[in-house]
Order: sequence, then structure tokens, then C-alpha cells
Amino acid sequence: MKKSQSPQASTNVVWHHATVTRARREQLNGHRGAIIWFTGLSGSGKSTLAHAVEEKLHQLGCRTFVLDGDNVRHGLCGDLGFSTKDREENIRRVGEVAKLFMEAGIIVLTAFISPFRADRERVRGMVEHGDFIEIYCNSSLEICESRDTKELYKKARGGLIPEFTGISSPYEAPISADLTVDTGTLELDFCIKKIMKLLAAHRIID
Ligand code: ADX
Repeated sequence: MKKSQSPQASTNVVWHHATVTRARREQLNGHRGAIIWFTGLSGSGKSTLAHAVEEKLHQLGCRTFVLDGDNVRHGLCGDLGFSTKDREENIRRVGEVAKLFMEAGIIVLTAFISPFRADRERVRGMVEHGDFIEIYCNSSLEICESRDTKELYKKARGGLIPEFTGISSPYEAPISADLTVDTGTLELDFCIKKIMKLLAAHRIID
């Protein structure tokens, strides 16, 4: 397993190697573990797509789990806000958790805005080549804002939410995502099919 680059305040800790390895877990599961990383603006469809792809994979008999921004921020990352530093820490923690799921042989789908390229690239660098698959949910700010299912854009425009991505905090679109899906304009089913093809091309599923 690739060593973590996370800050190391814990000293005198020694890695214990498991006898039940990732390869053995994957063999038992009948498929590879992987991190499928969805990134995009709030309201771009990351969670909807991640859960829809999970549903398909589950029906195929795959072991899966979705890590979702809004959910993770209720627990593991409940102490973090939306400053650049807190978002960086949010993504670092999620990356570490996703890596553990992957080591367990699971296909983990993550749905976080993850607005900063460097933070996403750090997670990519934490795992072996091919283990991290970045999917850009490309939907314009206008479309995300017009959906505004949680009415957060309205609040952000009214100055009630500071540092809101796309309004008062930046979003850095991926330069070389493994896949870009135009979630603002395409049908959900079409996006799901594109992702399932990608997973087959990466030999994550048959
Ligand atoms: S990230 O930037 O650190 O990746 P994350 O995906 O965990 O963000 O959380 C985003 C969700 O938090 C949004 O979907 C939205 O519901 C909520 N949220 C609350 N405040 C903000 C904010 N300032 N910017 C963006 N999203 C926010």
C-alpha cells in the first residue's frame, strides 16, 4: 500500500501488515477496489450521480459505498467549515477514508465539491495509478443556481452564507479529469452509462 503523505504528529507508531490483503479481499469480492471521485459545484448532480451509479453497481453484485459531502460533514468533518484551509482538511480526511474503503476492496464513490485542484491531486497521489478516477460533473453556475434545491445559492447571494462556492469562493475545474459529464444538460441515464463504460474500461467491473 502506498504510504500516506499526511502530516505526522503521531510518533513511535509502527505499521502492522494485515495477512488478509487488498488482493485477497478483491478476489473474494470478484472486483477491484477503487475511488471514484465526483467533483463539481453544489447542485451539479454529484450525489445524485454517485448514488445512481452505486445502485447499478450494487445490482451487479459489487461492494460499494458512497461518501457524500453533506453527510460526512454531519460527523467525521462536522468540526470543519468552508474556509480554504477547512476544505483542504475535509478533502484530506475524505481521501484517507476513501483509501481505507478501497483497501477493503470496495468501490467507493465520493461526492464532494472539492473545489481545489491541489487537494484533489493530493488524493490522487495517495494511491496507486489507476486507483483514483476523477469525474467532473460539469454544470454551469447558472444551471446549478436555477435548480437551487437547498436554497443555498439564494442565501449566498443574500450574503447569508459566506465563502459559497461559485459565488464568493472559487471552483477550480479539473484540467485532465478521467471523465467529464455534462450533468447540467444531459439525462441522468446517459451520464450513468458513460460512467459504467469508464469503469469497465478501467477494468473495475467486467
Ligand atoms: S468541500 O468544498 O469541502 O468539498 P463539501 O462537498 O464537503 O464541500 O460540502 C458541500 C455542501 O455543503 C454543499 O452541497 C452545501 O450543501 C453545503 N454548504 C454549506 N455552506 C457552503 C459553502 N460556503 N460553500 C459550499 N457549500 C456549502
